[in-house]
Amino acid sequence: MSAQSSFVDLCIEELTLCGVKEGETVAVLSQLDERIDYADAFMAAAVKLGATTYNVRLPEASTGLLGDSGAWTVGATPLANNQAAMDSLKRADLVIDLMFLLFSKEQLEIQEAGARMLLCVEPIDNLSRLFPTSDQRRRVEVSEELIAKASTLRFTNAAGSDVTYKIGSYPVMTEYGYTDQPGRWDHWPAGFLFTGGADDGVDGKVVVDRGDIIITPFKKFVDEPVEITISSGRIDDIRGGSDAELLRDYIGGFDDEKAYGISHIGWGCNEKARWSGLANDRRSIGMESRAFYGNTLFSTGPNQELGGDNDTQCHIDIPMRNCSVWLDDEPVIVDGEFVIDDLKAQRTTFAPPSQSRS
Ligand SMILES: [Fe+2]
Repeated sequence: MSAQSSFVDLCIEELTLCGVKEGETVAVLSQLDERIDYADAFMAAAVKLGATTYNVRLPEASTGLLGDSGAWTVGATPLANNQAAMDSLKRADLVIDLMFLLFSKEQLEIQEAGARMLLCVEPIDNLSRLFPTSDQRRRVEVSEELIAKASTLRFTNAAGSDVTYKIGSYPVMTEYGYTDQPGRWDHWPAGFLFTGGADDGVDGKVVVDRGDIIITPFKKFVDEPVEITISSGRIDDIRGGSDAELLRDYIGGFDDEKAYGISHIGWGCNEKARWSGLANDRRSIGMESRAFYGNTLFSTGPNQELGGDNDTQCHIDIPMRNCSVWLDDEPVIVDGEFVIDDLKAQRTTFAPPSQSRS
């Protein structure tokens, strides 16, 4: 079996999870010659499932996402000036986004038209290794219910973090790797969830520790602790060594007060994802880092995907290890381990070479 035909099989499995059936319409959105092989595979899979399919392919690129090149800015897309393309996408039952529309007005408009949307830009072997499961969806949805019932979320770590979010003003967003509900967006692969603090309702200190990951925008394991002071939902101060200087300089470069806002907060549930994944493979946009089991995902910048009005293009995601998280003073995660039975899963482990040799 060729690599492409096995990828078609994987796309058939994915579209099946997405509930694609005979008579539905699957639109694939791409730009330039990027991920043409993905577009072909998704369309072949859609045909196999009896759906109607087509590729909306734009002549210009928005952001650079792959490898070590390209600026990570979000929210601006070439769809903004292309009503015909927008109309084609809004008529679909499912839109496969091979570009990266997240944080854009156009994505929200397509969702509001009723199309479910699936973002897919990660390397094919990551799509396969981190393939979604219904149990992961269950644990993400249990997490969603717990957060939806709470009015505060607090997290700490041994490095000195202690920050509290007033929650409830924004919805909980789930990402479990597929989507079968009209108007719902998801990202393959995933396995995490988040909400946002009230606009002026995040206070405390986040100390990003050694080994935590500034995945967006640096794809970097932190070498020295970074102390971020937050009051009333805004970053007041960033202190530490070179990683702190990088963050300060990066955020300052946007010349945008909204870049100092606090964005989403949540945790990772994907037991197949590895904390160390980024160390030996930098091709991805970091879904494995965002999703690894038991991480606390701290984020700054825009919150319009949650319905807020912060539309800055400066977005920072920092998956942190070994944190403790409380919802209304009830522990959910202690030192990076879930303490609620319904959220527990066995981390995927691999036998050391000495044990797998016969
Ligand atoms: Fe994010």
